Amino acid sequence: MRVVRIFNKTEELIRNVAESIKTQINHCDDTLHIALSGGSTPKRLFCLLGDEYSKSIEWNRVHLWWGDERIVPPTDEDSNFKQVNDLLISKIKIPTQNIHRIKGELSANEACADLESNLQSDMPEKEGIPHFDIVLLGMGDDGHTASIFPDRLDLLSCDELCTVVHHPISAQERVTMTGKIINHAKNIWFLVTGNDKRERVDDIFTENECAENLPAAHILPTNGELVWFLDKEASLKNS
Ligand code: 6PG
Repeated sequence: MRVVRIFNKTEELIRNVAESIKTQINHCDDTLHIALSGGSTPKRLFCLLGDEYSKSIEWNRVHLWWGDERIVPPTDEDSNFKQVNDLLISKIKIPTQNIHRIKGELSANEACADLESNLQSDMPEKEGIPHFDIVLLGMGDDGHTASIFPDRLDLLSCDELCTVVHHPISAQERVTMTGKIINHAKNIWFLVTGNDKRERVDDIFTENECAENLPAAHILPTNGELVWFLDKEASLKNS
């Protein structure tokens, strides 16, 4: 089942996601594993978490992972890790062993193998598959999510946990988690804002014929909860 939360202002959406993360952490007995996303909407979330939640969240109980990463050094402006590092990690007290970044400074194949081995050694499993408490996702205006682009719909049902992909236009190399791991999560939260996403949101929510080719439409948890956090601009009038 898909839960849709619509907010009049993006700021309210971001604050609601931050509060939802805090609630999840407060309600979990042990550690919480969260897979983060790149993109402009999560950027605002990391900023808020770093500025206003550095003390109110027990960050030492949180493990940070990334759903996808570009094959660039961790100091590169394009690095998803760098975004989180600058805005959040540098402002909170979190043990370094809780930060499981994808090593973009390696070759794509090495970074992918390293991620796979870290997932197998450091992630709690359920039914033999790494089990995230929260996977945060964005959606591109082409319907991609994480780095699963429309030309790689096979990644939504493949056996691998993560893989190397190329951006369909720029050919930039990336490593992404696949549908196998994302759809297995306890909570999958899409953060989608802005007019340019509205048509794709419409395709997905009305399940029209275009939806089949949109990776984000295939993110449906096998046993978890799916929430779409939308601002007014990205949402349908009557959803
Ligand atoms: C990335 C992402 C990607 C992103 C979407 C939406 O690394 O770029 O993980 O899937 O979430 O492109 O990005 P915006 O929030 O900027 O629209």
